[in-house]
Amino acid sequence: MSKIILSGDRPTGRLHVGHYVGSLKRRVELQNSGIYDKIFIMIADAQALTDNAEQPEKVRQNIIEVALDYLSCGLDPEKSTLLIQSQIPELCELSFYYMNLVTVSRLQRNPTVKSEIQMRNFEASIPVGFFTYPISQAADITAFQATTVPVGEDQLPMIEQTKEIVRKFNSVYGDTLVEPDALLPDNKACLRLPGIDGKSKMSKSLNNCIYLSDTEEEVRRKVMSMFTDPNHLQVSDPGQVEGNPVFIYLDAFCKDEFFAEYLPEYTNLEELKAHYTRGGLGDVKVKKFLNNVLQEELSGVRSKRKEWEKDIPAVYEILHKGSLKAREAAVKTLDSVKNSMKINYFDDHALITGQSEKYAQENV
Ligand code: TRP
Repeated sequence: MSKIILSGDRPTGRLHVGHYVGSLKRRVELQNSGIYDKIFIMIADAQALTDNAEQPEKVRQNIIEVALDYLSCGLDPEKSTLLIQSQIPELCELSFYYMNLVTVSRLQRNPTVKSEIQMRNFEASIPVGFFTYPISQAADITAFQATTVPVGEDQLPMIEQTKEIVRKFNSVYGDTLVEPDALLPDNKACLRLPGIDGKSKMSKSLNNCIYLSDTEEEVRRKVMSMFTDPNHLQVSDPGQVEGNPVFIYLDAFCKDEFFAEYLPEYTNLEELKAHYTRGGLGDVKVKKFLNNVLQEELSGVRSKRKEWEKDIPAVYEILHKGSLKAREAAVKTLDSVKNSMKINYFDDHALITGQSEKYAQENV
């Protein structure tokens, strides 16, 4: 069986370092590993519209932002197909048929949807499209016959839902769809990077993100304003590293070699943590180090972005070509889905020549 990757993001804003460690960086590594037969990376504009129906312009403008973020992180259009979800109408058709295989109560139990409904104050009036987006996500994944979906932890319920749809479909209509597996970051700190304010999630609406496209100065300012251990008031106080955003970011980004370069008194993160825990290490020093670490990781991304920003038409061309190529794959899957569901009337010779079941008798 081919090894195929599908992953994507909603274009509701620029991508941040949470996306980067949670999924983007992994996608680039997987792309460059050479072990995948096909890689599809999707800008999920149709999904973004499920809760932004009245802001089409926002979604439209952010497509290029996300595409620039992808390219500047190292996704390579020669190796990965970059596509825009809405340009693949087959995804809607697949979703419509999958809807018959999922119950309302099952959707209501989806923990990610539940918390998103709360976050958006949708309790009283959830748009139907939003409520059913896990089904459309199953269409995204299965349309490309994806075997592997590199995502952040918050997407696990979607993959679970997809697996259920695949099993149900295959058991009702015969083996047709491929069951995917999620691929999470191995580093625990990367699973869910908190915001710079220490809130559990980086989110544009909470204004607590460090964006991939932030300037050097913006990153520095944000790092210096980060929350730390609230009880670590004096340098001499013992500090806590668990749950401390500055240390969580270091867990996600720091490599031992950065110490030699920026903080030679220590050889690794464990030594730095030990010093902070026993007291005598100030937040400012740790933050300055974190800033250097982040700048190391982000400066390459930033300079690639500058290059691509000079040629926006080329970026749209990549998306256009990618969408056409992706559509070919989705058309094939939809064909086999319709075959399995026996809604392929005009391709069914026995049916149209009257030889099947009921009319077979009368025609002999
Ligand atoms: N739900 C994902 C997000 O919010 C975006 C997405 C849409 C996606 N379809 C997908 C991710 C399919 C993985 C696979 O970022």
